[in-house]
Amino acid sequence: MKLFIDTANVEEIRTASEMGVIAGVTTNPSLIAKEGRDYATVLKEIAAIVDGPISGEVKATTTDAAGMIAEGEAIYALDPAHMVVKIPMTAEGLKAIKALSAKGIPTNCTLIFTANQALLAARAGATYVSPFLGRLDDISQPGIELVQNIHDIFLNYPDITTQIIAASVRNPIHVTDCALAGADIATVPYKVIEQMLHHPLTDAGIEKFKADYVKVFGE
Ligand code: E4P
Repeated sequence: MKLFIDTANVEEIRTASEMGVIAGVTTNPSLIAKEGRDYATVLKEIAAIVDGPISGEVKATTTDAAGMIAEGEAIYALDPAHMVVKIPMTAEGLKAIKALSAKGIPTNCTLIFTANQALLAARAGATYVSPFLGRLDDISQPGIELVQNIHDIFLNYPDITTQIIAASVRNPIHVTDCALAGADIATVPYKVIEQMLHHPLTDAGIEKFKADYVKVFGE
């Protein structure tokens, strides 16, 4: 399973990229709004940092297919080598995915909460689907079952090439569960990358190696 970072904060993206652990980036209107910067400028800057798929979502105020197609083309044009157009799961969204994918523009269908929605997005031509496991957990429905079901369904039909980006990942256990469920990618906030990195025994081991070394060899 590949890891993407789920943020619009360029410092976090730069740090994770330097560690060599991320293969792409996902953003959404909430994440970009949190940065308080120009939408297109942020996406362009991110695409210059990470050499991988960068999901930029159509603005939340655009709900018709024609509008999403026009915006999607503009997002793609920011950096055609990297940009993926993120489109919400609606009937108009599916039309936009179909049109963009016919033009060779990669798409990520977002806000997926059922396996049927994922199947519709795949059949419309989405490059990626983003099931949101954390938001399902929030309402007492096991989100990981959704990721597993989508994985199993896609496996049954080899003509489906759509990749699963497990999204709304909130903790390290989610990441392990997604990898076990066969997600192609998990997109994780920077905080979760840090949580994955640390273990108290690793930290204690480093301290002990240092203390033993210094005792005999000095600083
Ligand atoms: C996915 O692409 C979204 O950007 C994100 O994972 C949503 O996560 P949240 O439910 O923690 O807001």
